[in-house]
Amino acid sequence: MKKKIVILPGDGIGKEVTAEGKRVLDKIASVFNHQFEYEEATIGHEAIEKTGTALPDESLNKMRACDAILFGAVGHPKYDNDPTLKVRPEQGLLKMRKELGLYANLRPIKLFDELLEASSIKAEVLKGSDILFFRELTGDVYFGEKGRKDDGNTAFDLMIYQRYEVERIAHKAFQAARTRRKKVMSVDKANVLESSRLWRETVNQVSKQYPDIQLEHQFVDSAAMKLIQNPRSFDVVVTGNLFGDILTDEASQIAGSMGMLASASVGDKVGLYEPIHGSAHDITGKGIANPLASILSAALLLDISFGMKKESEAVIAAVELTLKQGWRTADIADARTSKDKILNTQAMGMRVVDNIGAKAVDMTALNTASQVASTIVQ
Ligand code: IPM
Ligand code: MG
Repeated sequence: MKKKIVILPGDGIGKEVTAEGKRVLDKIASVFNHQFEYEEATIGHEAIEKTGTALPDESLNKMRACDAILFGAVGHPKYDNDPTLKVRPEQGLLKMRKELGLYANLRPIKLFDELLEASSIKAEVLKGSDILFFRELTGDVYFGEKGRKDDGNTAFDLMIYQRYEVERIAHKAFQAARTRRKKVMSVDKANVLESSRLWRETVNQVSKQYPDIQLEHQFVDSAAMKLIQNPRSFDVVVTGNLFGDILTDEASQIAGSMGMLASASVGDKVGLYEPIHGSAHDITGKGIANPLASILSAALLLDISFGMKKESEAVIAAVELTLKQGWRTADIADARTSKDKILNTQAMGMRVVDNIGAKAVDMTALNTASQVASTIVQ
C-alpha cells in the first residue's frame, strides 16, 4: 500500500522519539512491502520561533492532505515560566485538534508484564490491568470562552458541552466495549456541574442502543481514587477533556512509565498518533528519552488509520520481545536491570527494528495490545 504520513516532531524530546517511530515505520514498509512517503511539518515553540504562530497554515494544509500524522510533543519552559506570554506552543496543539476534528482521544493503558516492577504501585494490584480511555478532545474548558473581568482580578474558563459532542464520543466508547469486557465507566462531576449533568443524561440515552454493555457512572474524584485502588476493575472509560487529561496521567503509572503510553486522536477525517508524555525539556538532547510510546503510537497508526493489523502486531510483538530480552531505557529500568542493558533513545529504536519479524515472541501475550488497536473504531 502507498501512504502519505506527516511527521510532526514538535518540541523537546518530540524530535528524538518521533525519529524512532519513523524508523520503525520504515522497517515495516520494507518488511511488508508498503510505500510510506513522509512530509515534515512544524508546530509549537519551534513554529513560533520560525513563523510567529504555533501552527502555521502550511503545517495544517500538509496534515489535511495526508493519510495519518505521527506527532511528538509541544512545549517549552520559557512559556511555563511566564504564563503572560500571549503566543504559546499549546495553542498549536489545541488548534490542530479542533481544525482536524479530532474529538476522540484514545489512551490505552496497557501494562507489559515485563514492567510490573517499574511502577510505584504494587505488582499484585497492577497485574492484568487493561484500560481503554476515551477522552473527549475538542470541547470543555479547553475551548469554552475564557477571559478576565475589567478589574483584572477575576478570571473565568467556561466549562461547556453540547449534546452532540457527548453523543459521538459515547458511541465510540460503547462500540469499543463490545469487543472487550463489555463495560463502560462514564466519569463526570454531576453532583456539582451542569455540564456534567448533560453529559450523564446523554450517555444514559446513548446506552439504550447498547443493552449488552454494562454502564456505570462515577464522579471524577472517586474514579481517581479507584484507579489506583483497583485498576483491574476498569475496562472502557469515557470522560470529558479536562477530567480525561488528569486521569490519563494518573493512569500512566499503571503502565509503569509515561514513556510507554501511546495515544490515538481520531474524528471525522485524518488520525493523529502521539505519545502522552510531553516535551520533557529536562531530558531533551540527552538521548535518554524512551521512544517506546512513539513506537507504540506508530503501531496504533498502522492499525487504525491504515487497517494494517499484521503490521501493527509485528511492532507490538517487537516491543514485547525487546523488553523480554531485558533492554530498558532509564525511565523503565529497575534495581534488577544491569547497567549494560540500559539503552539510549536511538539504540532502543534500533533494537525494536531488529526484532520486527523475529519469531521468538509469544503472540498470546500480545492479545490485549492488539485488541486495543483493533477495537478502535471506524
Ligand atoms: C495532553 C497534554 C495537553 C493537554 C497540553 C500540552 C495542552 O497535557 O495531551 O494530555 O492538556 O491536552
Ligand atoms: Mg495531559
